[in-house]
Amino acid sequence: DKGEFKHYMLKEIYEQPDAVARTVEMAVDNGETTKLRDDFLDRHETKLAGVKHIQVLACGTSYHAGMVAKYWFENLTRLPCSVEIASEFRYRNPVVVDNSLVVCISQSGETADTLSALREIQKHKPEGLVSLALCNVPTSSLVRETDIFLPTLAGPEIGVASTKAFTTQLVALVLLLLKIGVVQQRIDNERLTSLLENLHKLPGQLHASLKLDTPIKAMSESFEEKKSCLFLGRGLQFPIALEGALKLKEISYIHAEGYAAGELKHGPLALVDKDMPIVVLAPKDNMFDKLKANMQEVHARHGELFVFASEASQMVAEDRLHVVYVPDVCEILAPIVYSVPVQLLSYHVAVMRGTDVDQPRNLAKSVTVE
Ligand code: F6R
Repeated sequence: DKGEFKHYMLKEIYEQPDAVARTVEMAVDNGETTKLRDDFLDRHETKLAGVKHIQVLACGTSYHAGMVAKYWFENLTRLPCSVEIASEFRYRNPVVVDNSLVVCISQSGETADTLSALREIQKHKPEGLVSLALCNVPTSSLVRETDIFLPTLAGPEIGVASTKAFTTQLVALVLLLLKIGVVQQRIDNERLTSLLENLHKLPGQLHASLKLDTPIKAMSESFEEKKSCLFLGRGLQFPIALEGALKLKEISYIHAEGYAAGELKHGPLALVDKDMPIVVLAPKDNMFDKLKANMQEVHARHGELFVFASEASQMVAEDRLHVVYVPDVCEILAPIVYSVPVQLLSYHVAVMRGTDVDQPRNLAKSVTVE
């Protein structure tokens, strides 16, 4: 039931504060001190203690969650993490090193390529293999075929375009990282507590980011007649740029590409002219100054910039530079909050163009065939 919402996608975008709160609560104890719950993945501690490498496998939006996880794992725990599209991994005779944790991310748990990639690894039985399903459907094939089940508590996702499944996947990946960090003593107490406290604040920040609906709807009018669009981000926001481009193309049928902004001068800058909208994810983080230089490159070539920035960035709107301020959020968790404005943007562009938002042409919710 869509309730007061015109589409399931919009309803699911708005469910994110609750969905994220549920997923956080699964692992975080907010008693006198904020700590990981004793019963969170406790049965799997021995397995997790032996992990030396993380291999993420997924498709589409779930793959983008995995890309964020790579930045997180390597930066915060110094565990090497590889991420690959399942449909490529399964056919290229990959090397899986011993003591790998294979993390399969899938909303449905029935994606054929992800299941086959997992089975391919299992067939070769690498030493110390641990498999984990990060999944929204507890009864799925993926959950049955893995050692560990880490649920996303998003609730049923009906819209074909994944929204709340993505943000809850990101949250669950932070929780997994913290658990491994604690078990392997790779994360100090101060960082742990600060991240747990910041996770606790997330639902409120997501709620605040939904308030951007009105300015983003106004912004979306500039996209109605466009043929093509670029999304830019750096660091943790690069995968969100890819995700923004995927959302826009799948529901509005506008061609869109996500780029790591540092790559602009290696090709895509040639596309930029006055008809090219460029969406930029620009929180005030350690990459912001570099990103700002990239924005200037685009602006100088008459591209029209649509920037999601924090107030702290002190970005000011000017000619062909539009700014929407996203609520302040800690740097590490920023990709979760910045997912919301890109979801809202693609939603409003699609509605304006009159596409079938919940059931885009040629796509299925669960891709159970190759
Ligand atoms: C995009 C989208 C798809 C899925 C992909 C994987 O909005 O929904 O790209 O993310 O088909 O699906 P799951 O996560 O069910 O394996």
